Amino acid sequence: MTLSELGTYTAQQFEQVYGRPARWIAAAPGRVNVIGEHTDYNDGFVLPMAIERYTVIAAAPSDGHSGSVQLHSTAQNSAPPIDLSQTLKPAAKGTWWNYPLGVIAGFIRQGARPGGFDALIHSTVPLGGGLSSSAALEVSTATLLEMMTGKELGPVDKALLCQKAEHEFAGMPCGIMDQFISVLGRKDHLLLLDCRSRKPELVPMRDGSVALLIVNTNVKHELTGGEYAQRRAQCEQAAEALAVPSLRDATAQVLEQGRARMDETVFRRACHVIGEIERTVHAAEGVRASNWTTVGQLMYASHASLRDDYEVSCAELDAIVEIAARIGTQGGVFGCRMTGGGFGGCAVALVRTDAVDAISATIASEYEAATRIKPTLFVSRPAAGATIVRSGEAGGPPYFRRR
Ligand code: GLA
Repeated sequence: MTLSELGTYTAQQFEQVYGRPARWIAAAPGRVNVIGEHTDYNDGFVLPMAIERYTVIAAAPSDGHSGSVQLHSTAQNSAPPIDLSQTLKPAAKGTWWNYPLGVIAGFIRQGARPGGFDALIHSTVPLGGGLSSSAALEVSTATLLEMMTGKELGPVDKALLCQKAEHEFAGMPCGIMDQFISVLGRKDHLLLLDCRSRKPELVPMRDGSVALLIVNTNVKHELTGGEYAQRRAQCEQAAEALAVPSLRDATAQVLEQGRARMDETVFRRACHVIGEIERTVHAAEGVRASNWTTVGQLMYASHASLRDDYEVSCAELDAIVEIAARIGTQGGVFGCRMTGGGFGGCAVALVRTDAVDAISATIASEYEAATRIKPTLFVSRPAAGATIVRSGEAGGPPYFRRR
């Protein structure tokens, strides 16, 4: 579905549930990270792109002007009414409305006074598939609240407010990549983000002869979410042992010299991060030069490092990367790696556009033969970030404005 069709569909769903038209509609995309994994919370570089999958939120002031918020989702159970006269507190861990709730709380903390409203959420970002469905939900809610309250945040403040919502309400100590790309994505561009200075740099990727093929393993092995926090802590330990503010400040040589001051596992975690930051900068140069062979090789190297040193891959992700490598450049695959936090979720492959169908068919059948699980595959070009689909009068034709 195009974004325009999605907006129309979500508006119709809103009318069906609430019996009146939506006044505002906002959308924000999911993302795929091309390279730069587990580097954002180490002050490093990341190179994600927004994908053509969105979370759309339609809303209107509540009937009777009550001070409460109703949240309906087309995919999940409805949230209980949220009373805006009370201090907002997180619901139980794992509850989907913690994301919008955290964003509303963030706006209130910044002095915005949202009135009661009814909202309906519809998403084409696979839930929990490692494509940042949570950032898409946070950023679409923030974009809605900007319209509703008139409090416009700059892109950096908006991404940070959403990240804080995830930390405090969802209990996930994520970095800043997902929220930044969902806010700042641009059609036909990757985003090279320096997570230390927070300086975003758009890297054009207009060459239509290549595409990103996203392969969802349809498995999730992370049981408690504790592995992510543990990796973060190990990186902090390594930086401390090397006496640097963060691993961004270390080099392979500095790490080697400090090897005796840390245990073997912490050493390997740091190896990954230091190498990955370097690979990411090189990959951005490769994209600028349309040097797809180089970018692809860096993607394979990233995967090996995440598998062996960072230990966040899993058998299913490794299987996809192995199949992709067997197809090889001859068959139109330049590179492949796991993407996102790991332990399941998605792999991303850089492929020749004219070979996408054949590559998809091979990966799907060989993955299923190896694992007995059906994967989900789709192609995406780099898409736009958060978008206002409708602002203002209900029932009028939707219009688009980039934020
Ligand atoms: C998750 C987090 C991001 C980032 C990635 C790993 O997606 O939300 O901030 O740390 O994992 O690169």
